[in-house]
Amino acid sequence: MEHIQGLMQFIEASPTAFHAVDNLKVMLDAEGFTALNEGAPWRLAPGGKYYFTRNLSSVIAFRLPEGAPDHFQIIASHADSPCFRLKPNPGRTQQGFAALNVEGYGGMLMQTWFDRPLTVAGRLIVRTETGYRTALVNIDRDLAVIPNMPIHFNRDANDGVKLNPQVDMLPVYGCEDADILALAAERAGVAREDIAGCDLFLVSRDAPRLWGANDEFILSPRLDDLECAYTSAAAFLRAAPSRHVDVLCVFDNEEVGSGTKQGADSSMLTDAISRIAAVFGMPPEAATAKSFLLSADNAHGVHPNHPEKYDDENRAKLNGGVVVKFNAAQKYTSDGVSQAVFEGICAHAGVPVQRFANRSDVRGGSTLGNIAVTHASMNAVDIGLAQWAMHSANESAGVKDVDHMVRAMKAFYEAEIAVEEDGVIRVEAK
Ligand code: CO
Repeated sequence: MEHIQGLMQFIEASPTAFHAVDNLKVMLDAEGFTALNEGAPWRLAPGGKYYFTRNLSSVIAFRLPEGAPDHFQIIASHADSPCFRLKPNPGRTQQGFAALNVEGYGGMLMQTWFDRPLTVAGRLIVRTETGYRTALVNIDRDLAVIPNMPIHFNRDANDGVKLNPQVDMLPVYGCEDADILALAAERAGVAREDIAGCDLFLVSRDAPRLWGANDEFILSPRLDDLECAYTSAAAFLRAAPSRHVDVLCVFDNEEVGSGTKQGADSSMLTDAISRIAAVFGMPPEAATAKSFLLSADNAHGVHPNHPEKYDDENRAKLNGGVVVKFNAAQKYTSDGVSQAVFEGICAHAGVPVQRFANRSDVRGGSTLGNIAVTHASMNAVDIGLAQWAMHSANESAGVKDVDHMVRAMKAFYEAEIAVEEDGVIRVEAK
């Protein structure tokens, strides 16, 4: 259980995508990576290790080989999770109580947000003498609660309740008038009047914990998709040098469709590919065509109480190994070629693999891989770890699977995947 403690610390320290990227930066800095400014020329050297952020909520890190590479091996995941976002005028009073005016970010299970300790985290845009700077903030204490309605006024509550986010989901955080921005300013060590803008989110205060007869499960907020963000970073930082370019991408905004300047539906990855390819005189189109992407986002593990919701032959179990996700509509990128390559690498590394497809009468989810490859078109496979209660305020996953994923991803980075011609691939697994 090498990586579970690291994962739990990472999730607890990462209430928002801004914090997740900040923590990834700390991990990269500690391993000697150089931070690049996207708005300046890049001076890259063979053998060098670099990263850049966009919006401070997405990050791409890469490691260059000593010799001339001809392709990239990339793992992409996402740093955002479904939650509630504070509106620009975030204050409101409800029956004299101080409340927060929030709207949904992504498709959360709303009922799981009731009656649990919450706080506010994100970033403040602070005025300076010359313009603005960013200050991350996490009001690191039990600050707010969304109280549920008592069953006496809601006798049908256990038969299903319709929730209206404008009415039902407003958190209370004080007995009288309070100023959330003043609390955030104080926590960030800035003056209230210097806050010129903010991106603040309501986040769960629950800490990740292990549970089960043998501590075989983890219960935690934001497992989707910080579990893949963390395991991919752990594998990236431990992988031995290779002949290709290793790339780690953690994108923001997957939960709202990826369509932002820093999302998977942006130029961020293709911009990085062309700038890196230029260092070695590689045509970026040829390098892209020979490249390979792992799109890593968690998967649905078969629910013990509702097995009927899952396909009989294509279902995944918690602690059963890395899940390869398939979908005929290609919402997932996996196809026969990418399946063969990835499953072969896992077999060589001794990592168990499970195959997942939805029931044909169930509309599944989607993720960022198929969006990313419409820009950077390369062989790709969608993978994840099996979890329960996806998009609940607390999700469960298997402890053993954390190590399964790190081993699979490390083996992916260390393998040489050479596309010799369309449909012909040579794989050297290490
Ligand atoms: Co996800």
